[in-house]
Amino acid sequence: MKKAILTIAAAIMTIAAMAQPKLTKDNIDDVINAMTLQEKASLLVGVRSSLVPGAAGYTCGIDRFGIPVTVLADGPAGLRIRPTREGDSKTYYATGMPIGTLLASSWDTDLVETVTKAIGEEVLEYGVDVLLAPGVNLHRNPLCGRNFEYFSEDPLLSGKMAAAYVRGIQSNGVGTSVKHFATNNQETNRLENNSIVSQRALRELYLKNFEIAIKEGKPWTVMSSYNKLNGNYTQQDYDLLTTILKKEWGFDGIVMTDWGNKEGTVKSAKAGNDLMEPGRQNEVDRIIAAVQDGSISKEELDRNVRNMLNYIIRTPKFNGYNFTNKPDLAAHAKVALKGAEESIVLLKNDNACLPLKGTEKVALYGVTSIDFVAGGTGSGEVNKAYVVNMEDALIKAGFTLDNTLADFNRTYVNYKKAENRLNHGWAQAKVKEIAVPLSAIHEQAAANDMAIYVLGRNAGEGADRNINGDFELTEAERDLIRDLSVEYHALGKKVVVVLNIGGVIETASWKGLVDAILLPWSPGQEGANAIANILTGKVSPSGKLPMTFPVKYQDHPSSLNFPYDWNLFHARGVKKDFEYTKYEEGIWVGYRHLATRGAEVSYPFGYGLSYTSFEYSTLAIKATADGFEATIAVTNKGSVAGKEVVQLYVSAPEGSLEKPACELKAFAKTKELKPGESQTLTLKVSNYELASFNEATSAWEAASGRYSIRFGSSVQDIRATAEFKLKKALSWPVNNVLSPER
Ligand code: GLC
Repeated sequence: MKKAILTIAAAIMTIAAMAQPKLTKDNIDDVINAMTLQEKASLLVGVRSSLVPGAAGYTCGIDRFGIPVTVLADGPAGLRIRPTREGDSKTYYATGMPIGTLLASSWDTDLVETVTKAIGEEVLEYGVDVLLAPGVNLHRNPLCGRNFEYFSEDPLLSGKMAAAYVRGIQSNGVGTSVKHFATNNQETNRLENNSIVSQRALRELYLKNFEIAIKEGKPWTVMSSYNKLNGNYTQQDYDLLTTILKKEWGFDGIVMTDWGNKEGTVKSAKAGNDLMEPGRQNEVDRIIAAVQDGSISKEELDRNVRNMLNYIIRTPKFNGYNFTNKPDLAAHAKVALKGAEESIVLLKNDNACLPLKGTEKVALYGVTSIDFVAGGTGSGEVNKAYVVNMEDALIKAGFTLDNTLADFNRTYVNYKKAENRLNHGWAQAKVKEIAVPLSAIHEQAAANDMAIYVLGRNAGEGADRNINGDFELTEAERDLIRDLSVEYHALGKKVVVVLNIGGVIETASWKGLVDAILLPWSPGQEGANAIANILTGKVSPSGKLPMTFPVKYQDHPSSLNFPYDWNLFHARGVKKDFEYTKYEEGIWVGYRHLATRGAEVSYPFGYGLSYTSFEYSTLAIKATADGFEATIAVTNKGSVAGKEVVQLYVSAPEGSLEKPACELKAFAKTKELKPGESQTLTLKVSNYELASFNEATSAWEAASGRYSIRFGSSVQDIRATAEFKLKKALSWPVNNVLSPER
């Protein structure tokens, strides 16, 4: 009898197990067949959890199949989670790394992988499965509030940086989310704004960087954006998310929404948006109702569920990784330092004013020298254990500071921050520059050997920048630069400006007044030490601009279609640039426009000085099976070691399409070259990468003829040229979708 009961029990267990198999990488179809409609719909919508306090979102767990909750957390400059937890004496700080724009300024994909490998270790060890990064949107216009998280005005540099970022993070066995797909190029009205973009500008600029990131980085996930593109919400656009992203580019991961709750859940699921974040019950209900009334087919439902399960089986959570909550923050701080050192851009250095001898007595000006901007605000902000400020960094590097001035700055900043907290409860508002009396500057110039002015700008999610007092200098900043240059130059002493900013500012009107300008952007928690190491010459600067610094804001054609006056919309209900933004400039963005028109710029794309100089020689071009290889020798002709970023620009034969004067098609950074040392670099370009997008034929087309190959130290500083002849025209047809007229 007992045996019989045991046999029956075993049989029931077996049937039960078959009815609810525990998920493995080999039985996904069995699990799908065993899931109820409620379970399937739930898997497509985020849930609330406190697994990792401060994480941005989660995916749904289903115990009976052994499906765990997985954890999604921000952000591009480092993991964003709460640094402390109730009743827990441990801390959960993450490392504040350089912002995306600074990483791009390194033009060094290996360096980016090193920095993001460290970030990925923190993602893994703090129990997170996907980092909601990198932010990849193109710098269409300098006033976009989130440009600090993004890389460049050029799609190739942006895409290559994004791919390297993804590889570094994912080398830890955790995922990334390439965002915000696509044309989320302004913060104003970002939830509803409709980007109206030509197919050519889309394909060549706004999708191209995502295409490179997807094909060369292979991210686990992509985050669709809040906005509309040519009339459809991107998260509900089948042509964008399935036709192009999944079918044309071969993306095999999951697409998640940005953090919202739009009515069109059903359209999103059908379009190929697999996951709704952060997730609400009414989204589950909408999916269930849609399956029941047939508007979502079983195939569509199971397709998205299968994508989710394929994602889940990759995660550390599913694979039972025992995270330690103890990443090596000390080691990562060193990576943060190196990441900044390799990326900081030297814009000006008259009469080799830099590097400074470390023993100099320095008058350190600017509220930002006390209130250092390590990164941007919003979801990209990292809860760091510390931020080194300029004062401490310069003292550590051996400088002696003018303490009276430092005390004055510190007292003022602390007072203003207290006032901000009192009046606005918002301690993050950037303290505006204070006017320094000329009499004080006159005395300080006599008492010190030189002046360093740290000019700062905050950058943040959720709002775009202004022109007055933001892109352009404030009156106090302008006056300070003028007075410093008059008083210090009268005594034959130098003035150095450090731009601790998150986005491009105006420089042409004042750069002639100072001796040196260093651009560290917002360089992370160790960034001030990196600045000091470059000022003393311990590190030779090797960064290059990933975008143009124009003479004035209006030199950008996109300035005719960009929201820079928030009050304009609220006051008069203006729809242009608010409800919709027409990308009328088409492909004419950044150097593509400025170089083609021969327009004067303040600092060109790809520009950056070193403490040494480089010579380019023996350029050779060799045809390959699907394009060409270009080799160039670079020699350090100066007296100190340094690295050079070599940029390869191509001028294509016009054919039927009007084309930019040149386009970046490859780049490489040398190792550190000692004086006299040479390195030969080989850069590969495929025929497909030479192609332009022809709307008339809905195809990428490489015209036959002579392509001018230009090796440059910037887009303007061409050092060597050659030719590549494409014997016959080539064409790569793609789906004719996403037209503005659709
Ligand atoms: C925000 C941002 C996105 C972020 C997400 C989660 O709205 O647009 O970049 O990853 O929400 O915080």
